[in-house]
Amino acid sequence: MQSRRGKGLPGGNDWWKRAVFYQIYPRSFMDSNGDGIGDLPGIISKLDYLNDGTPGSLGIDAIWFSPFYPSPDRDFGYDVADYCDIDPRYGTLADFDRLVEECHRRNIRVMLDLVVNHTSSEHPWFKESRSSRDNPKRDWYIWRDGRGPKNKPPNNWRNNFYGPAWTWDEQTGQYYLHSFLKDQPDLNWANPEVRQAIFKVIRFWLERGADGFRLDVAHHYYKDEQLRDNPPFYKREKRTGGMASRDRTLEINLYYTLGLPEFQVKKYNQHHPETHRILKEFRKILDQYPGSTSVGEVIGDSPETVAAYYGSGTDELHMNFYFDLMHCRWRAGAFRRCVELWEKTLPPEAWPAYTFSNHDVMRAISRYDRGGRGDARARLLALMLLTLRGTPFIYYGEEIGMKDPKFPRHLLQDPVGLKWYPFHRGRDGARTPMQWNDGHAGGFTSGRPWLPVGPELEKRNVATQEKDSASLLNFYKKLIWLRKEQSALQEGSYRSLTGAANPEEVFVYLRELAESKLAVALNFTTRPRPVNLAPEFTAARLLLSTDPSRGAEDTGAQLVLGPEEGVLLEVEPA
Ligand code: GLC
Repeated sequence: MQSRRGKGLPGGNDWWKRAVFYQIYPRSFMDSNGDGIGDLPGIISKLDYLNDGTPGSLGIDAIWFSPFYPSPDRDFGYDVADYCDIDPRYGTLADFDRLVEECHRRNIRVMLDLVVNHTSSEHPWFKESRSSRDNPKRDWYIWRDGRGPKNKPPNNWRNNFYGPAWTWDEQTGQYYLHSFLKDQPDLNWANPEVRQAIFKVIRFWLERGADGFRLDVAHHYYKDEQLRDNPPFYKREKRTGGMASRDRTLEINLYYTLGLPEFQVKKYNQHHPETHRILKEFRKILDQYPGSTSVGEVIGDSPETVAAYYGSGTDELHMNFYFDLMHCRWRAGAFRRCVELWEKTLPPEAWPAYTFSNHDVMRAISRYDRGGRGDARARLLALMLLTLRGTPFIYYGEEIGMKDPKFPRHLLQDPVGLKWYPFHRGRDGARTPMQWNDGHAGGFTSGRPWLPVGPELEKRNVATQEKDSASLLNFYKKLIWLRKEQSALQEGSYRSLTGAANPEEVFVYLRELAESKLAVALNFTTRPRPVNLAPEFTAARLLLSTDPSRGAEDTGAQLVLGPEEGVLLEVEPA
C-alpha cells in the first residue's frame, strides 16, 4: 500500500512538542447516521470546528482518538476484537483514510489508541488460544493450572476493575490472566510471536497515515515470569516521592477498613523491566517513521516510576501523562509542588504532557466544582494547562465546560460503575455526548443518544458559546492561538517565582525563551490577591486574563488578581 503519512505537514519531526492535542471519544463526538453513537463521518464533519486554519476555530494540532476498532464494547472499545479494522458502527477503513486526509489537510495530526496489554475475548487470537491446550496460539495469552486441592487461581493478583485477575476456562481446564475484565485477556508479551504481531499492527497504521499512538496501560505489558503473589499494602515499601492521590488514599483506607484484597502493591504485574525493552523496540519502529510520536498512559506510585518510561529521554516513549497533576488539591502550592517535582524528575531530554480530564475520570470542572466554583476554576486550569512547559491535552467538551451528570443506576453503561455502584458511579459521566447546540441531544444525534447529554445544555454548548465573546470556548480559542504566536509558551524554559506572591495562594511562573519572557499568575483563592514581580521585572503587559472584562493593558510589576483570576503577562527585566 502506498504510504499516506503526513509528509509536508508543518512543524518538523518534533511538532508534538509545540502542539495542542485534543482527545476525542469517538462514541460521543458526532453521530452522522442517527444510531445514537458517534462515528468517523460525524467527526470529519466537525474538523473545521477543531481547526480551519483561522482563530475562529479552536486551533488544535493533533487528535488522540480513543479506540474505534471492532469491539464487543464490554469496555467500550478498550477490548479490541480486530486491530486492523474499523468497527462498522464507526465506519470503514475508507472512512479512516478520509479522516486522515481531512485531518492532514487542516494540519491536524492523527494519534491512535494502542490497546495491546490485552485483546477482547472475542479476538480471533484468543478464540484460537482458548480452543485447545495445544493450539499454536495457546501461548499468546497467559494460561496456568489452578493452585492446590481447591484449584484456586494461580496467584493473588486482582484485576484493575474488581475481583481476581484470573478466570477459569471450563473447556481446557486452566485459568487465564486478565488485568481488567474477564472479557479482556492479557496478551503474553513474553512470546516473540505476540511482539511481532503487535509490531505489525503498529506499522499497519503508520503506513496508513497515523502520526502516532497513545499507549493504553503501557506499564502492564510484561508480567513476572514466576507469577509471584503481590504483597498487600501494609508491606508497601516507602514511597520515594510523589503525592498520595486522593484515589490512592481512598484505596489505602478501604484496604484497612474493609480488608478488601483489591488493594495490593502491584509489584509483580506492573512496571516489569522487560516492558521497557519492549518499549525500546516500539520506539525503534516509530523512529523509522519520522514525525511520529507516542504518549504513554503510565500509572505509577512515584514520579521516578513514570519518568522511567521516557528511557534516556529519547529511546522509549516521547511523552507520558503525569496523572498526579489531576489529583492535586485546589491549592496553588499543591499544583506548584507537583509540577516542580515532575520537572525535577524528568531526564533532561524528556518532554512533559499534561491533562486534567480524560474518559476515565470525572471532568475537572466537576471535580473542582466546590461551592459552584467550577466555571471560574475551569478557566484557571485552561490557562495553566496551555502555559506549562509541556504538551497540553484537552478532552472533548472541556472547552465548553461540559459537566458530569449524576446517572441513576439504570442508565449506567460503564462496567466499572456497574460493579462499584453506589460507591463509584463509574466513568459514564465524562463520556456524555458532545454538546454542539441546545437542541435535541445537544445536536450530537438525530436519534436516541447512547448516554444522555450533560447538565445545563442551554449554556454549555458550542453554538451558544461561539456567539458570546466572554464564553469559555472563546477563552480557549484566544489562548490556543496566542500560544501559537508565543514560542516561549511552546518551547521556553519553566521557572517558578515563589517570591512574587504567597506561594500557597498564587502560583506564579515564568516561561522564557531568549529575549521573550512571559509570566503566568494564577490566584487559587476566592479573594483578591497581590502579585509583585519586582525587583526582577519592572514592567508587565497583560496578554490575557481569565476575567473576560479585563482587556490588554500595562499592569506594571505590581498587580492585584481578582478571585480565582489567572493572567498571562509579558514581562520586562529590570
Ligand atoms: C485504560 C483506559 C481505560 C480502560 C483500561 C483498560 O486505563 O484508559 O478506559 O478501561 O485502560 O483497557
